[in-house]
Amino acid sequence: MKAPIGVFDSGVGGLTVAREIMRQLPNENIVYFGDTARVPYGSKSKDTIIRYSRQDINFLQTKKVKAIVVACNTASAVALEEIKDEYQVPILGVVEPGAMAAAEATQNGNIGIIGTEATIKSGIYNNYLRKIKPNISIVSKACPLFVPLVEEGLIEDRVTDDIVGRYLGEFKEYQIDALILGCTHYPFLSNSIARFMGPEVKLVNPAYETAKQLKELLKQKNILNEGEEKVIYDFYVSDAVDKFNSFANGMLPIQVESSSVVNIENY
Ligand code: DGL
Repeated sequence: MKAPIGVFDSGVGGLTVAREIMRQLPNENIVYFGDTARVPYGSKSKDTIIRYSRQDINFLQTKKVKAIVVACNTASAVALEEIKDEYQVPILGVVEPGAMAAAEATQNGNIGIIGTEATIKSGIYNNYLRKIKPNISIVSKACPLFVPLVEEGLIEDRVTDDIVGRYLGEFKEYQIDALILGCTHYPFLSNSIARFMGPEVKLVNPAYETAKQLKELLKQKNILNEGEEKVIYDFYVSDAVDKFNSFANGMLPIQVESSSVVNIENY
């Protein structure tokens, strides 16, 4: 089935998931929406995150998507359960796949989770992890400055290293051996985080497992794209299109020539 996969995030973070979908599902067309006018989601209230997520999904549905990936931990944590039954289209989040990947990655059962304020407050990673492995110990922390650092492109920067040290210092006490990057923006900071945490801590990026689960879902529903045509990737944002394009071009395996601006409040 040729219809595209819809992918959305509050900004550029979901590109880490889109990139993984491109890699694992190279025949699938993608429509990406980044809500760059309203980023960050992670410090907003539950009601606002739910309203934004509905609008993002409503917009993607106008593109006749066959499945939607919520490439945002915050929306996956706070809105997904609440709204997914309102839609016919299958919707997959990143939190459950992330928890599964972390449960597999840990050897000593001590897992760290970092994410936005809303994701950490929701406790959803803890719930999934405890279902998979009841005896694990979990330590979590919100890192609200990471998203603006990424959105500003401060990926390799002394300021970023400083803030990483400040947020993650307390994890050193807990002997974690796996750290969930529970926000799709955070894989951009992997180098800095890995330098600080050291080689004994595995960084878990939920994107890989999410793309894997997406593939399973498409197979199960018999809606994989078996066509031979060149794939089409369309990008939409709610603001700051040039900034988004240059960011996307710096990290995707393809060239984004132009993205379109959407007035998301209309959906
Ligand atoms: N990238 C998103 C996440 O995974 C949202 C970050 C934000 O907008 O606060 O949580």
